[in-house]
Amino acid sequence: MKIAVAGTGYVGLVTGVCLAEHGHQVTCVDVDEEKIARMQQGVSPIYEPGLEELMRKNRERLFYTTDTCDAYRDAEVVFIGVGTPEKKDGSANLRYVFQAAEQIAAAACRDCVVVVKSTVPIGTNEKVEELVRRKARPGVTLSVASNPEFLAQGTAIADTLHASRIVIGVEEEASGETLRRVYRDFDAPILVTNRRSAEMIKYASNDFLALKISYINEIANLCETVGADIEDVARGMGYDSRIGNKFLQAGIGYGGSCFPKDTKALSWLASFNDNELKTIKATIEVNENQKFKLVKKARRYYDDFRGLTVAVLGLTFKPGTDDLREAPSLVSIPILLDDDARVKAWDPVGVENYRKHYPTQIEYCPTPQEALDGADLCLIFTEWPEVKALTPADFRERMRRAIVIDGRNCYPLKAMEGEGVTYDSIGRKRIVE
Ligand code: UDX
Repeated sequence: MKIAVAGTGYVGLVTGVCLAEHGHQVTCVDVDEEKIARMQQGVSPIYEPGLEELMRKNRERLFYTTDTCDAYRDAEVVFIGVGTPEKKDGSANLRYVFQAAEQIAAAACRDCVVVVKSTVPIGTNEKVEELVRRKARPGVTLSVASNPEFLAQGTAIADTLHASRIVIGVEEEASGETLRRVYRDFDAPILVTNRRSAEMIKYASNDFLALKISYINEIANLCETVGADIEDVARGMGYDSRIGNKFLQAGIGYGGSCFPKDTKALSWLASFNDNELKTIKATIEVNENQKFKLVKKARRYYDDFRGLTVAVLGLTFKPGTDDLREAPSLVSIPILLDDDARVKAWDPVGVENYRKHYPTQIEYCPTPQEALDGADLCLIFTEWPEVKALTPADFRERMRRAIVIDGRNCYPLKAMEGEGVTYDSIGRKRIVE
């Protein structure tokens, strides 16, 4: 099928590439000419394992352009995968969605299904349909379907090609049939529902996962107080298939481009409709506090950080991505810098983006070991494999004072016991040497 995709961020580009992988002819559209030129050379603008390989493999079916008329003119289906950033009040900014919708309506010369893949508040698809129908060329019928994505960064390709489910929200059978054809060769169950339910499935799913994380983080904090071990507690809970063993990893809170934004957006929408979601409000509050956990713990060892050398391992909000959006490191490192600490940081892919925030204030190290050299304190923000591979000897022999505060529980407690390292992690016994 002839398909176009508006937006080449995580959602748009991964969707386009995976549709091409299943034999469709896909044109990816973006306003950024430099980005388009790079993609035409087979270079992905984002760090996502497996993406460039698929871009190259399917290059005969993949096109990149800034020309919206050319892309949308004769497409059978156009996906909207542009960003819906957070406004100051927490609500979703839909300006790019509407902009794309207008461009599609202005260009489409044949009947076409406009598919909203961006995460949008409940009711948005209706507004998009009203807009595209009003602006469509005479004789052209445009219909709108909701098709939320459930991809996670770092596993985006697999999450799309082997999706847990494909949700299709439509008001007319014909659009549903068109989308079934789009996804004919995908290996995933398909749920067809109305548009508002599809929009809600996306928010309810993301917010539930965020709630699960905040819940386990609160339980972890209590474990520290009462002497229980969160790893065992989570394992014990996870055996119950009603609870499930995923997303029970305690840590320093969720970051990224989805959970923080989608919890706030749904909470805003609920309050706006006089229907406060207390669980989601609590989820957000717990998460904001949890992000400060490492610095709070560090104050047990040092009153302030002035004159200290602090090793920071991991900058991104999770491993497998160079994305820093809402990363806990972004709220903690400024506190260290305000105190005039010397910060030595290591991250395998996040440094380039971090440099944009802190070009000179931080020393970026080529290896985690070098970050540890001479440090008085080590803070672990991201569980990269290279961090997990460090041994107690790395901390003991390289640091001036081996105090390790681990926000991602990278090491079994047993491995740290009796090793001459003070090891303080989340929801577990503190090892003081
Ligand atoms: C998430 C959803 O997983 C995905 O389905 C949705 O489409 C977009 O949002 P993503 O933000 O890429 O994907 O990352 P995810 O792997 O879900 O992790 C989000 C955050 O939660 C990370 O900061 C991670 O460290 C944290 N997390 C995750 C935990 O703290 N504990 C867990 O058990 C799982």
